[in-house]
Amino acid sequence: MRLAKHLAHSGVASRRASEQLIFDGRVEVDNRVVTDPATDVTGQEHIRVDGKTLRAFERGADRVVYLLHKPAGVVSTAKDTHGRKTVVEYVRSPGTRLYPVGRLDADTTGLILLTDDGDLAHRLTHPSFEVPKVYLAEVEKGPVREPELRRLREGVKLEDGMTSPAKVRQLRQGILELTIHEGRKRQVKRMCAEVGHPVKKLQRVAYGPLRLGDLAEGGVRRLSAAEVERLRALEPGGPEATGREGTKA
Ligand code: URA
Repeated sequence: MRLAKHLAHSGVASRRASEQLIFDGRVEVDNRVVTDPATDVTGQEHIRVDGKTLRAFERGADRVVYLLHKPAGVVSTAKDTHGRKTVVEYVRSPGTRLYPVGRLDADTTGLILLTDDGDLAHRLTHPSFEVPKVYLAEVEKGPVREPELRRLREGVKLEDGMTSPAKVRQLRQGILELTIHEGRKRQVKRMCAEVGHPVKKLQRVAYGPLRLGDLAEGGVRRLSAAEVERLRALEPGGPEATGREGTKA
């Protein structure tokens, strides 16, 4: 793996900032200063940044991230003023305070992440990260015709401005798969309603590199260290954050 990528994965800095650290001569590999970010490393080397070993930078080694298949009727806040069930109640994690990563409407089902790492939750939901989110929407008055599909793809005028380009496919009559990078309130529902096809049912099936897969509704799984690392390695507008082709972690 490239040295810059290895530093980013170890939590030193973003990939670009790690490259700069290397260029600036602040990184040693086995006691030698290395200035080429493309230097190949195996992870077995003794690496130091500004004299500190990589272990000292490892953030979140003891942090947890869970993936929940949120059922309908459950709210994605940590507490609900109306006494409804919340996503955090699905995870048994005594002594940890979990934060939902972003929001799903109460009637939306599907993939939502929960973590005790407030910094990670904050980073992932920041608009600059453009994490791709994939939704399946069952809409009224299907099939959706090409002009409406094109509007959804190119951008729809909502009351809070135009939506960014989206990937939209009609899987079956009236069943749309939409990939969006923004996270505005009720965005998918508002986009579909705007083109004349209100949403009847909505499910999120993917978030960045993660898929809902066949996890049952109400099911929870803890992400593996490798999956958490891939989330941590997301960069603002980076290849994985935008869903563009790129080197896989
Ligand atoms: N878009 C919506 O309209 N609702 C959600 O819950 C998520 C995205």
